[in-house]
Amino acid sequence: MGLPAELYGDFVIEDVRARMILDSRGNPTVEAEVVTRGGGFGRAAAPAGASKGSHEALELRDGGKAFKGKGVSRAVYNINSVIAPRLRGLDSRHQRLIDSLMCQLDGTPNKSRLGANAIVAVSLAVAKAAADTASVPLYEYIGGVGGTFILPVPLLNIINGGAHAGNELSFQEFMIMPVGADTFSDAIRIAVEVYHTLKGVLKEKYGAMAVNVGDEGGYAPPMKKNREALDALIKAISKAGYTPGQEVLLALDAAASHFYDKSRNAYIVDGGQLSREELLEYYMRLVDEYPIASIEDPFYEEDFEAHAELTSRIGNRVAVVGDDLYVTNLERLRKGVEMRATNAALLKVNQIGTLTEAMDYARAAAASGMKVIVSHRSGETEDTAIAHIAVGMRTGFIKTGAPARGERTAKYNELLRIEEELAGDAVYAGRLALRGLIYFYTARGILQA
Ligand code: PGA
Ligand code: ZN
Repeated sequence: MGLPAELYGDFVIEDVRARMILDSRGNPTVEAEVVTRGGGFGRAAAPAGASKGSHEALELRDGGKAFKGKGVSRAVYNINSVIAPRLRGLDSRHQRLIDSLMCQLDGTPNKSRLGANAIVAVSLAVAKAAADTASVPLYEYIGGVGGTFILPVPLLNIINGGAHAGNELSFQEFMIMPVGADTFSDAIRIAVEVYHTLKGVLKEKYGAMAVNVGDEGGYAPPMKKNREALDALIKAISKAGYTPGQEVLLALDAAASHFYDKSRNAYIVDGGQLSREELLEYYMRLVDEYPIASIEDPFYEEDFEAHAELTSRIGNRVAVVGDDLYVTNLERLRKGVEMRATNAALLKVNQIGTLTEAMDYARAAAASGMKVIVSHRSGETEDTAIAHIAVGMRTGFIKTGAPARGERTAKYNELLRIEEELAGDAVYAGRLALRGLIYFYTARGILQA
C-alpha cells in the first residue's frame, strides 16, 4: 500500500494549454487541456450561444478577416500565456481558488479581458483533471458519493425556430419531456420514437423540406405560427403510441428578447403585435390548450415584473424558467428570487465563465425553491461536462437539444453510460422532478477543497 495520492502531490497542475477547435456551427472555439503531476488529464471546450442574453460574460473573438472575425487566437493566447503560468503548481482540487484567481487575472466584471470562453474552458478542464487524478468520474467528483445520484429528465428541442432556424416561428424551441419512464434510457427511447414519428408527420403536411434540421438538431419546418409546432408535437406523441400529458409533456423556450421590439414596446408573435399583457394571456391560453410543463424566457430579459406576474398565475403547474433573464449570474438571480420572477433557473456555465460561479448559482436557486435546468448552447462541441454537472448536482433536468447530431447525442450518450455505470445506485428523475421532490444535495468535493 502506497501513500494516498495527495501526499505525492499528484493533484498539482503541471501544465495548462489551449488550442482552437471548431464548434457545431463551424465556428472557432477554445479547447483547454490540464495535466496534473499524477498524470491526470482534463480537456474541455467552450460552447457558444446564438440567442445570447445581453448580460452574459463576454466571448472573446479576434475580429478582422480570418474566420469572419470569429477567430479565438487571442483567447487561446490568454490561456497559454496569461493563465497557464499562474496555474502551474496549484492543486487542481482547489477549484474555487483557481476560478477566483482567473477572475482576478481578468479583472473586469464580464470577463472581457481574458474572455469567458478562455476562462470556462480552463475551469472545466481543471475539474476534469482533478477527477481523473482521483480516478473518479466527473459527476462523482462534483457531487460526492453518499447519496443517490439522479439521472435528469431531458428537455429535447425537436422543433427549432427563432434564431436557431431559417423559418418564421417566433418561439425558439419546442421541446418534449419524456417524464413517464422508469429509467433515463427508457426516456431516451420514448424521445427518439417521438422524434422519428414527428419526421413523418412534418413530411406529410409540409413536404420534404420540412425535415431539415436547425442548430440544435430539431426539425425546422416552414411554419408561421407557434400553435402549428405544438399541434405537430401532440400528433407525433400520439402517433408514436403515447398520451400527451402523460408519458410525454411539452416545454417551450420562447426566448422572448429576440421577438421583443423595444421601439414599440411590443412582442412580434405569429406575425402580429402583442402587448406584454396580451402575451401573458396568450401563454395562459397555451398552457390550457396543451400539456406544457415549462416555459423559458417568456418575456424580454429586463422585464422581471412580467415574469413575476406569469409565475404567480401559472407557477403552481408550470416551470417558468429564467435563461437570458438570469444569465447564470447570482446577482440577477437574487433579484429574481426577491421578485418571485420565476420558479426555475437555467444553468449555462459559459454564461458566467467558471464552474464555481455556476455551482454557487445553482445552489442559490435550489435553496430558494427553484428548479435548475442544466443547459447546452446552440453552438456546441463533443464536450460532455454538462451531463456530469446535471448528475453530480442532482438537478433533475437537462436541456441538450434533439436526440440527433453528434454534439447533442454526446451528452445523451454520456448519460446512458453514467446510468449503466451507476446501475441500481441512480434513479431517473421522471415526474418527481416536476413536483419538486428531487433532493438537491449539497455538492461536496471541489467546493470544500
Ligand atoms: P443559445 O440558445 O445557446 O443560442 O443562446 C439556447 C437557449 O436560449 O436556451
Ligand atoms: Zn433559452
